[in-house]
Amino acid sequence: MEAKIKALREQMEEELGRIQSKGELDEFWQNYLSKKGSISSLMKELGSVPKEDRPAMGKVINEFKSYAEQRYQEVRRRMDELELAMRDKAEQVDITMPAKKRPTGTLHPITITKNEMIDVFSGMGFEVFEGPEIEDDDHNFSRLNVAKNHPARDMQDTFYVSEDIVLRTHTSPGQIRVMDAKKPPIKVLVPGRVFRSDSDATHSPMFYQMEGLVVDRHITLCDLQGMLDEFVKKIFGDSVKTRLRPSYFPFTEPSVEVDVSCFACGGKGCSLCKGTGWIEVLGGGIVHHRVLENCGIDPQVYSGLAFGIGIERIAMLKYGINNIGLFYENDLRFLKQFKN
Ligand code: DAH
Repeated sequence: MEAKIKALREQMEEELGRIQSKGELDEFWQNYLSKKGSISSLMKELGSVPKEDRPAMGKVINEFKSYAEQRYQEVRRRMDELELAMRDKAEQVDITMPAKKRPTGTLHPITITKNEMIDVFSGMGFEVFEGPEIEDDDHNFSRLNVAKNHPARDMQDTFYVSEDIVLRTHTSPGQIRVMDAKKPPIKVLVPGRVFRSDSDATHSPMFYQMEGLVVDRHITLCDLQGMLDEFVKKIFGDSVKTRLRPSYFPFTEPSVEVDVSCFACGGKGCSLCKGTGWIEVLGGGIVHHRVLENCGIDPQVYSGLAFGIGIERIAMLKYGINNIGLFYENDLRFLKQFKN
């Protein structure tokens, strides 16, 4: 029996020395220390030992058992440390490594231009208001003094959703919505998408406009020119001048078209300004008294100025883009060029 214990002890030490993982350690426990393990079998064999030797032998086996348990715990601690060290190693971060580059997007050139325009006008005290893209005939046309037979109402230009509902053809219905909601003094910008059945190098069926509306006492065309002068200088440069030309819009009287002196040639005449020295940038005027009346504002007390700017047009001029379609193709080679 003693020889057997000695052999088992040697075998145990050898096996413990080879253990590399918790799994192997569990196996060791099963083989030696569990109820079915070799040390328990030794206890069972105690029956065949002469009676007088049994207490001493029992003691030897018990000592061996506690020794084996102690060794098991030691190796277990070693395994825990090993596991921790391996986890540390796997989670190690080399902070001197160059960081992975994460490409960030850029704002769309129309958004950049829109934000820049809003910045300029908010510096003059304008607030921003947004109206719906699907409008009724009343807001898009009638209350803006666009007569029933006006060519702008033609199916050729306007996308009709139903007889009375359209995709707004301009941001001007925003004027009506603002004046319905608020009484003077009013100073708002209405940026947004507009829709027209039109498509070529400079026209798209969907494009962006920015409406401006100021209503207060004693607003004149001089205020309009002053504000727009400031606007074009901020957008195209300090040397740029504005020129107002008479025009016609149903919702303004008088109506003007605003040109800027060509910033490419300084007004001498070039391909951008088609030799004229001037570039048309927007429409505007003094709000028609009927439009004010349609919104319950007394034209004897108040007057207003309004303007509508094509955002793509400003972006095309600013960045030298010759085809409006480029804005909507989502070609990253195009879009990546615009950093704000
Ligand atoms: N709504 C006009 C258009 O789409 C632009 C415009 C002209 C807006 C004159 C105005 C304005 O507010 O006063 O062509």
